[in-house]
Amino acid sequence: MLKKVLPYFSAVVLALLTITAVQAYEVPDKIVIERPSKNRKLNTWVTKVSFAHGFHAIRIPCQKCHHKESDKTLGEFVACRDCHNSDDPNDKTGFYRAWHSDGPPSCLGCHTQMRAKGGKNPVGCTTACHKPG
Ligand code: HEC
Ligand code: HEC
Ligand code: HEC
Repeated sequence: MLKKVLPYFSAVVLALLTITAVQAYEVPDKIVIERPSKNRKLNTWVTKVSFAHGFHAIRIPCQKCHHKESDKTLGEFVACRDCHNSDDPNDKTGFYRAWHSDGPPSCLGCHTQMRAKGGKNPVGCTTACHKPG
């Protein structure tokens, strides 16, 4: 009896697990990154940044950027700005350094390193990221 029921039961459990995993998160294609309204503007030309998230997510492992994501939090993908929102440009956990610190997972840090190895990653402030308008 058990032998007959077991495969059916496993299939239902598997289906449920799959549904839960799919519903846990969606991988956004485009994201607009904007300074928290309480933070001051560090330069007159700083504009919000349109980030091709999907383009990056198919080339780079998720955890390389989502550096606090672990086996325990898998599927939560807490937004960077939920932690990195302080106004201090020297604060490692602040808004500015998340995108501009020397190494990955910062945008500029990764791009500078890859460019040094012959990559085509753009690094211009107003040509790559903070495009006017
Ligand atoms: C090149 C770096 C990078 C890679 C690689 C990357 N992400 Fe992201 N992801 C980001 C950034 C930056 C944001 C925007 C966070 C913010 O607005 O604070 C983001 C946002 C998200 C969000 C939305 C979070 C929210 O609540 O707004 C999800 C979900 C997500 N990523 C999942 C993934 C998954 C899954 C992968 C791998 C398949 C992945 N990401 C790969 C950098 C990356
Ligand atoms: C759960 C909170 C949390 C989330 C979510 C998070 N970070 Fe961080 N981040 C930290 C903390 C805390 C540090 C300080 C060093 C450490 O503990 O790893 C840090 C350090 C960094 C650094 C190094 C800064 C420096 O000056 O050395 C970068 C770059 C960075 N994070 C980028 C990101 C990006 C990009 C995302 C989103 C894709 C992100 N972080 C998501 C908490 C977080
Ligand atoms: C871990 C490495 C890494 C991080 C972090 C990263 N990038 Fe990139 N980025 C790449 C790679 C790889 C390419 C493709 C370069 C090529 O075409 O050879 C790229 C290309 C780009 C391009 C040019 C292609 C396009 O979409 O127009 C822009 C703009 C860009 N990234 C912006 C960002 C921004 C904004 C962030 C942070 C929110 C970021 N990147 C974080 C690796 C990274």
